[in-house]
Amino acid sequence: MKKVTVVGAGHVGATVADAIAHKDIVNQVVLLDIYGDMAKGKALDIWEQSPIGYYSTRLKGTEDYKDTADSDVVVITAGIPRKPGMSRDDLITTNAKIVKTVTESILKYSKDPIIIIVSNPLDVMTYAAHTASGMNRNKVFGMAGVLDTARFRSFIAEELNVSPKDIQSLLMGGHGDTMVPLPRYTTIAGIPLRDMMDEETITRLVERTKKGGGELVKLMGTSAWYAPGSAAAQMVESIIKDDGRIFPCCVKLEGEYDLDNVYLGVPVQLGKEGIKKLITIDLNNEEKELLNTSANHVKAVMKVYDDLQK
Ligand code: LAC
Repeated sequence: MKKVTVVGAGHVGATVADAIAHKDIVNQVVLLDIYGDMAKGKALDIWEQSPIGYYSTRLKGTEDYKDTADSDVVVITAGIPRKPGMSRDDLITTNAKIVKTVTESILKYSKDPIIIIVSNPLDVMTYAAHTASGMNRNKVFGMAGVLDTARFRSFIAEELNVSPKDIQSLLMGGHGDTMVPLPRYTTIAGIPLRDMMDEETITRLVERTKKGGGELVKLMGTSAWYAPGSAAAQMVESIIKDDGRIFPCCVKLEGEYDLDNVYLGVPVQLGKEGIKKLITIDLNNEEKELLNTSANHVKAVMKVYDDLQK
């Protein structure tokens, strides 16, 4: 019996549940929200889609944490989203409380789940959940890099008029304007990006990626959900299948990349135990500097979180 809980039945949470159901890889997805009827309604809608979507995954909507008992993986999307003009960091006061309470409530009913954080500000919410959980860092980590690299890859595909399927990329750092897309670690069907794209275009796409979330907030008045939701579902899939895939995820660094006690996106290998392996790659001086700037930014927001706890 494989069971996944998604906390928060807003746009992102419902999209995570829907994407996981379509993969047909778990027995049950529980969608929990303090607005129980919304969770129940969306879960029922996704379940009614099953004969068409062709999956057997059962959906359950609820407001009761008891229903989340013995989850293998929990995805936390709860919290308020951005409105135009807001940065992700502006959400900290409200979302810190929510993420902490959700983590504690989940752990009352699931002993040793893998927890994926999606709520913003992502890196600091991962910090909040990880510290509230008291669990090992390989069990509590955040989704950001899968989304941010997907955006970068989609922009490259559009620019070169190639399939996004052929584009691989790596991106590190925090989930904010200081994130570090890595053109040097980006290929098109194995061909280095710089062989196919001039530097000016690369810079333009890197900048668009960094502000990719904001571009959508401006258009929709709230933050995105399709790419964020399917990015989280892809991480869940890799954990459930234990297939050894490598993704950039937000995790506590303990000396890797000469950074300590900061939650930052780095490449990791996922598996049934959560993070199987944290991978350290070579960065040149410029890339290191960008990563350090991003780490300093996240540390400053971690400090805001610490001060809120006093
Ligand atoms: C985004 C939000 C989910 O980047 O952080 O769209």
